[in-house]
Amino acid sequence: MLLIEKPEHRGLCVILWVFISITLLSVSGTHGAPQEAEKRGREKDRGGEAEEQHEKLADQPDLLRSSSIQPTQCDIPPDSRFDCAPDKLLSQEECEARGCCYIPAQPKGNAIWQPWCFFPPSYPSYKMVNLTTTKTGYTAQLTRDRPTFMPEDIMNLELDVLFETESRLHFTLKDPANKRYEVPLETPQSSNKASSTWYSVQFSDDPFGLIILRTSNGRVLLNTSVAPLFYADQFLQISTSLPSHFISGLGEHLTSLTLSVNWTKVTMWNRDMSPMPSANLYGSHPFYLVLEEDGLAHGVFLLNSNAMDVILQPSPALTWRTTGGILDFYVFLGPDPKSVVRQYMDVIGYPFMPPYWALGFHLCRWGYASTAVTREVVKNMTAAQFPLDVQWNDLDYADAGRDFTFNKDAFGDMPEMVNEFHREGRRYVMIVDAGISSSSPTGTYKPFDEGLKRGVFILNATGQPLIGKVWPGPTAFPDFTNPETHQWWHDMVKDFHDQVPFDGMWIDMNEPSNFVEGSVEGCPNNKLEAPPYVPGVLGGSLKSRTLCASSKQYLSSHYNLHSLYGLTEAIASHDALVKVRGKRPFVISRSTFASHGRYAGHWTGDVLSTWEHLYYTISAVLLFNLYGVPLVGADVCGFVGSTSEELCVRWTQLGAFYPFMRNHNDRRNLPQEPYVFSQKAQQAMRKALFLRYSFLPYLYTLFHKAHSAGETVARPLYLEFPEDPNTWNVDRQFMWGSGLLITPVLEAGKTEVSGYFPLGTWYNPLTGFIIHSKGQWILLSASLDTINVHVRAGHILPLQKPAFTTTESRKNGMILVVALTMEGVARGDLFWDDGEGLFTFEKGDYTQILFLARNGMLVNEIVRLNSQVDGLLLKEVLIFGVLSPPHTVLANGTPISDFSYRTDTKILNIPLSLLMGEQFVITWS
Ligand code: NOJ
Repeated sequence: MLLIEKPEHRGLCVILWVFISITLLSVSGTHGAPQEAEKRGREKDRGGEAEEQHEKLADQPDLLRSSSIQPTQCDIPPDSRFDCAPDKLLSQEECEARGCCYIPAQPKGNAIWQPWCFFPPSYPSYKMVNLTTTKTGYTAQLTRDRPTFMPEDIMNLELDVLFETESRLHFTLKDPANKRYEVPLETPQSSNKASSTWYSVQFSDDPFGLIILRTSNGRVLLNTSVAPLFYADQFLQISTSLPSHFISGLGEHLTSLTLSVNWTKVTMWNRDMSPMPSANLYGSHPFYLVLEEDGLAHGVFLLNSNAMDVILQPSPALTWRTTGGILDFYVFLGPDPKSVVRQYMDVIGYPFMPPYWALGFHLCRWGYASTAVTREVVKNMTAAQFPLDVQWNDLDYADAGRDFTFNKDAFGDMPEMVNEFHREGRRYVMIVDAGISSSSPTGTYKPFDEGLKRGVFILNATGQPLIGKVWPGPTAFPDFTNPETHQWWHDMVKDFHDQVPFDGMWIDMNEPSNFVEGSVEGCPNNKLEAPPYVPGVLGGSLKSRTLCASSKQYLSSHYNLHSLYGLTEAIASHDALVKVRGKRPFVISRSTFASHGRYAGHWTGDVLSTWEHLYYTISAVLLFNLYGVPLVGADVCGFVGSTSEELCVRWTQLGAFYPFMRNHNDRRNLPQEPYVFSQKAQQAMRKALFLRYSFLPYLYTLFHKAHSAGETVARPLYLEFPEDPNTWNVDRQFMWGSGLLITPVLEAGKTEVSGYFPLGTWYNPLTGFIIHSKGQWILLSASLDTINVHVRAGHILPLQKPAFTTTESRKNGMILVVALTMEGVARGDLFWDDGEGLFTFEKGDYTQILFLARNGMLVNEIVRLNSQVDGLLLKEVLIFGVLSPPHTVLANGTPISDFSYRTDTKILNIPLSLLMGEQFVITWS
């Protein structure tokens, strides 16, 4: 049902907005009973479709008769068929020669992907022998008698199952005879557990299968016996049943929040590509989260960096198909989705703490052709009264597009420009590309000369630096898996920083992108370049828009390490900035891999300036939060193609709630800085930007929780309300933490937007509107200058009077927005430190304050205090949901006479001047 927000409040109090406007003006492991669980898995997979399928087969007697396979073996419901021809199209004869079933599908509805050639249950797989209980789980050997149709089967495998924690199971399948490539990610030491009360593990011996059950309800979360296991040198495949259709993750792709299990193939192989559906994009995150029917959740992470496909099918089931490495799985038992995400971050690492200024507004464009133009942009922003924290330059600043140089003509006074920005309380960030120009005369370009001397570049088959082509022309590619490269990169960063005192690095083109296939000389012909199975990568080959897969890196081949390029560059950049600046680093990278968030943030690349892409950016931001990369945003107003005024206004409003907010534009487009639009549009954008700046203390506190406790910053509704299935598909709204719901307009010409409001009370801090929701869709008014945000009852949000930079806003008075439940309770907290010091949390150099409202009283509890809060004042408390007008308001026992209360909105406004760092008691009665 669609409800309309209560009209009686319309046009009434504009509490927070008045404030902003003022600123504008001035599991137990038992081996056994595997058959039970396995049967359950299979029964579930087949479901009621068996009968239906039987009828379909009866319609096709010729096909069955012509098959050499016994009809009973092939009597598998279409949705439960696992592809026996992943590598190529097969004729019936070829399929049957593989020992598989062949039944051409009648393309019907969306079932276009259903395999014609599929495994019969009897298809040979591995057999498990010598299952042994260890102190921390199990080990076993797997053997296969007959090779598969893939070359170089590894006939004997070792299985290790580790009960790492109550909620985390880790299992690996390795070749005991030969050490294979493993992702060089530091993972936590496993604890000495022999079992878990949360889950149990069962095995099927022949064919091998591993089954994980949730103890509380006996649900099978993973069952790998549904299809045969493949473990060949370049083709590793394992399938599992899924307990539900609701699956999120497996990025990076242009996608909605949940993936379709209707024969979807997702490919991971980092790639420079303007986001388009079904294409492999800039990053790889082989992690999924499944919401089970009762709102419980589990997650799975495959720690593997090779080119891979993941197939989702309607039974529902999932197949991992990777081209190398080992099978190294982590299973997270939740039991709620938030815990799944935290358990994933326990393995990949918690996010880095960004500097406070990183949360301000960033402005960039490809095409700010000189320091004069760049200064003019900043001047125009100031004149038009827009906040701006960080000014950026794209490639324009660099001399002939080369890293660590600046164009001495157009950017001759770049150092002075950056110093000027600093004096104004702003920061400066510039682009650094992955490719290092290799064609400058010897002795004229230190990064290449020195890199060559120090052996930092990726090598081709003949042992020479592999040369590709990027913006500066011929380029070599630093191998960031080599420790010497880190040192060299640091030296280059330092040399440049000694000249231009920049504050952060924008690392681009680091998939790595290459404008020629493989290298200027092409690629050798070998098994790494032409694997027996090529995942669904754009361009059809691994070298497409990148380096030769067989090129050599310090740790392994590029074939294995390709998708780690951006991550390893981000680590080197992060470390270099720590040493060079001695402050908290800021690195934004296009290419990412699991664990990226420990070091850097991400922007979603070359999105189009379209309404459709505006919508997709929400899912992108939410998914990267699930991947442990909370500092993420898309180019506000879009990058490719010219924006429209309306789109740019709506994008600025949504962007104001991206954890990382940057307006960036392509050089060919019409300009899209906020000040180029009509006064009406500017006013709307200004309002959105100041709204963001007001919420920064809350946002910063959320980043602290991400950094210290593995939480998300921007989060899908289902993370907060997993027990409400209506939230599961919501990806046009999202939350900041657990206290703020954001409902942007994502369509042209709309002045209303419908949003889902989970059960509870929600307060609009700008209008005072109150929503008491039973868990309903509600139609909200949303004129061009409005983005709907609602504070969830039960939460206290710390806000601050906005300013034109965070340097200024951090000194301003604070406001507490207290959103009471119907029972009159709310709580919240604030994390505060110097905003850019290194390891302030780890060193204990911060302030943390808890706020609690109850029974007409608001108190704070100072958990920790440092000098950074000295002088910071609490100037106002806004209490939402005060049911009757108070007669007396006291702050620390002193009457506050100028409080105000509105009977229509039930908001109590208390002006104050209390020190944030001192204890207070505020009462109203
Ligand atoms: C590609 C990046 O995605 C884009 O943001 C940037 O403007 C261009 N490279 C030019 O550097």
